[in-house]
Order: sequence, then structure tokens, then C-alpha cells
Amino acid sequence: MKKASIAPSLLAADFGNLQHDVEMVNASEATYHHIDVMDGVFVPNISYGMPVVKAIHKYATKPLDVHLMIVDPDRYLEEFANLGAHILTVHYEACTHLHRTIQAIKALGMKAGVALNPHTNVMLLEDIIQDIDLVLIMSVNPGFGGQSFIDNTYEKIKKAKELITRKKSSALIEIDGGVTSANSKQLVDAGADILVAGSFVFKSEDPTATIKELKG
Ligand code: DX5
Ligand code: ZN
Repeated sequence: MKKASIAPSLLAADFGNLQHDVEMVNASEATYHHIDVMDGVFVPNISYGMPVVKAIHKYATKPLDVHLMIVDPDRYLEEFANLGAHILTVHYEACTHLHRTIQAIKALGMKAGVALNPHTNVMLLEDIIQDIDLVLIMSVNPGFGGQSFIDNTYEKIKKAKELITRKKSSALIEIDGGVTSANSKQLVDAGADILVAGSFVFKSEDPTATIKELKG
């Protein structure tokens, strides 16, 4: 049985005690720290920016999986590389010259991810799939934690998997939004490699055990 990699989203962490929550992830079975950066323009919410990412990086011992929900991300690629991002994911819908953005992320030594909103067709990645390291399929509309999972995601995972196989890409599939132990197994069975989970982990009584449970 394939096990998922888990990326707890620090958006749901206790910002008054961020070090504690980062260290919980360090000591858990999670693979990444998922970091959601929102600008209030691409999405209707503002989360946190560079100083907070810097603070997370100071305590994190696992790779930083940075999800940019911002317009014109090209402006900040170098800054996120300097902040220690391991994977840098930009939104398909936010990039006019996506190929150039992907090449720039990789030239800075980071893994390049592309995120798709729920309405964005997976097949739009056909001409870029060989260049990217990660496809992030949004299973809620980006902007907020704690929303309900959109069921069409399973279909999108299957399409992404087929595309990756057909094009001989090594891209991983990451699912973000509304992930719980009620859907984690089905997501992995459909082809997901990495599961992001915010509320389900941090609002649970024992986040470490919840991460283990999601991993399967
Ligand atoms: C939403 C973010 C997610 C969010 C997931 O826009 O990209 O990473 O933190 O939160 P949950 O797991 O609560 O849906
Ligand atoms: Zn995210």
C-alpha cells in the first residue's frame, strides 16, 4: 500500500505559538511544512508574508513547501529562495508566462510546482508537465482553511496521473483543501502523492497522531 506524504498547513497553526507548532511538525511523520502565502488580491484573504516564513524556517527541520496564492509571483521568487523554500508553487491562473516562471524557480535551485484552482482543467498543463516537479490540485477554492472538500477532485487526480504517465513526467500530485481521514485513503488510491491538511491536523486533540492517521 502506497503511503502519502503529509504536509501540515501552518495556516491553521497557533500564530501566537508558531515555534511550538513547527516543532510538532518536525517531530511528526509529516514530510513537509506547507506554507500558504496569500496577498488579498489573487485570493480574498491575507495570510502572512516573508517575516513569518523566515521565522518558520528558523525552527523547521523539514523542507518548506511554499504555496503562493499571489498575483505576479515573479516579483518574489528570489526572496522565497533566500527564505529557504524547497518547493515553490505558483498558481496557473496567476502566471501569464508560466514557462518562464517555472524556469526561473528551478534556476534558483527550488522545485517548481503549479497549482490549479477547482475550475481549472488539468489538461492545461499538457505543455508544461515535463518541466514541473509538482501539480497542486486545489480541492477547495483557495483563500481559507476549514472549507469542505470538492468531490470533483478525484476525477482531476486521475486525469493528472494519466497526463504525468503519458508524458513521462516525474511530477508529484499534491492535494490541498478539506483533507481529512475520511478522504485521505481515496485520494491516495486515486493517485495523490502529498496531502496538505490544515484544520484537520491543528484543530485535532493530538496533531501528531492525526498526521500519522492521515499518512495511512
Ligand atoms: C487554502 C490553503 C490550504 C489550507 C488548507 O487556500 O491553500 O493550504 O490551509 O486548509 P484545510 O486543510 O483546513 O482545508
Ligand atoms: Zn496551500
